[in-house]
Amino acid sequence: MNDAPIGVFDSGVGGLSVLREIRKALPNEALLYVADSGAAPYGDRPREYIAARARAVTGFFLGQQVKAVVVACNTATAVAAQMLRSCFDIPIVAMEPAVKPAAERTRSGVIGVMATSQTLASEGYSRLTRKQGAGVEIISQPCNDLVALVENAELTGPRVEAMISRYIMPLLERGADTLVLGCTHYAFLAEAIKAVAGPNVIVLDPAAAVAKELRRRLEAGHLLASRTSAGGERFWTSGSPAQVQSVIGKLWGEDVDVRAAPVLGLVA
Ligand code: DGL
Repeated sequence: MNDAPIGVFDSGVGGLSVLREIRKALPNEALLYVADSGAAPYGDRPREYIAARARAVTGFFLGQQVKAVVVACNTATAVAAQMLRSCFDIPIVAMEPAVKPAAERTRSGVIGVMATSQTLASEGYSRLTRKQGAGVEIISQPCNDLVALVENAELTGPRVEAMISRYIMPLLERGADTLVLGCTHYAFLAEAIKAVAGPNVIVLDPAAAVAKELRRRLEAGHLLASRTSAGGERFWTSGSPAQVQSVIGKLWGEDVDVRAAPVLGLVA
């Protein structure tokens, strides 16, 4: 069981920002990644659709005998993490927008949370902001359009800057000095976001914290890999393997083989 793989998924390539932190924190673990690109973006889909996708991908991972699943997608977490935990009897580690660290670090008392509309509309997000954001002003900004940029590996340039400015300037004008990246895709735009926001704005990505939580869960369950060699990664998609392979190659920084996952192909 200990050398079984870990499944990591997102609506597309955004979850690679979490996968790379997991890779650093747990080099000996075998990692399986599913980019559900055939169903992306999740951000403004109906909740039932997102929940059905999360269940299908997790079922696919169980068929690959994984020992744990990481929901590397804030939207799927917001909609489906609880359901996955009640349906599947393995550790399910999921995302949480970094509202708590943002509330601790802001000096102006105003933080901006960038996420998809479904994340921001979720009960989990309301609970999180009530609990962790007491005493600070939280401005929630849906940024759904940024996902397509990352899905096309378009991370720099005037178009990217213009889109980012449109989303974050209103937050900065209202005094936000801390921005929370509440969608795993946005981590790939962190440099562009910092360039637009300027040096006095803190930009927070929870990916490293999620990798740490995964490590903690594996340790607690005595599930850490026993192999001493690199665990390696394998990639699947419900979208076009050629297209996704080319984008993952750019974002992951090396050539990878991306396979079609037929069981995930039934996108409504
Ligand atoms: N990467 C996802 C997230 O963290 C969702 C992006 C999308 O498909 O809309 O929310």
